[in-house]
Amino acid sequence: MIVARSVIEMKEKRGRVNANVGFVATMGALHTGHLSLIERAKNENDFVVVSIFINPTQFREGEDFNRYPRKLEADSVLCKAAGVNLLFTPNVEDIYGNDEPTIKAPTITGHILEGKFREEHFDGVLTIVMKLFNIVQPNRAYFGKKDAQQAILITKMTNAFFFNIEIALCETVRENGGLALSSRNIYLSKSEKSEAFKLSKALFEASKLIKQNEIRALAIIQVITEVLKPLPIDYIAIVDRELKAIETIKKGETIILIAARAGTTRLIDNMWI
Ligand code: PAF
Repeated sequence: MIVARSVIEMKEKRGRVNANVGFVATMGALHTGHLSLIERAKNENDFVVVSIFINPTQFREGEDFNRYPRKLEADSVLCKAAGVNLLFTPNVEDIYGNDEPTIKAPTITGHILEGKFREEHFDGVLTIVMKLFNIVQPNRAYFGKKDAQQAILITKMTNAFFFNIEIALCETVRENGGLALSSRNIYLSKSEKSEAFKLSKALFEASKLIKQNEIRALAIIQVITEVLKPLPIDYIAIVDRELKAIETIKKGETIILIAARAGTTRLIDNMWI
């Protein structure tokens, strides 16, 4: 596995690759969810690049940037074992210099749901993804559906700026019992973790109802609210693939999103119907 620690190094190594490049952007602390993206990238491309970069501009003041898990050595071992061809680990100075985020998230879709609770979060996400796309120049890039709004905004940006990159959205990987894997799950105490399972449980209940032909968004939101009790809820939303709220579920066109808190940890989960 080649390691590129700077933008110059990455560009130089990329210039020598004459093959289809699959790309997985991460902030490290890799888990099975990331590994499933890497595995799919391996299956669909000749050469796989993984980036590890904890992007400061997508964290708000007071969020967990400083305590976000940093596990570069272990991550590097995992990447090597997974058959990653090139690991890109730039530093903040190299990526940003003195720049602020230069891409602004869309006025509406970037400022609802997560964008409402984490102001300017998506400016940071879209800016780093734009930078990484330009540096890595992949043919395909892989993102998890777990971060549904991020996945949709990145897809939209890729189309809006006419990147020749195919965006592949990959299924959420869950622990036994349903909890969606996330690098932030390590913040959960034992009791918070058992509370956290309520998010996936609520989504499974919703999915059961939909299988029984319930299509009213309000009825589904009510059931989710019940299952989540007593967790503080940031939002429960039922939207189409453009993130617009809808009143009736249409299969193949709907996403149910939840954000709630277990202790001090904010959790998100969703289900694409
Ligand atoms: O999903 C993530 O880990 C990050 O938001 C991403 C896409 C790597 C950008 O920093």
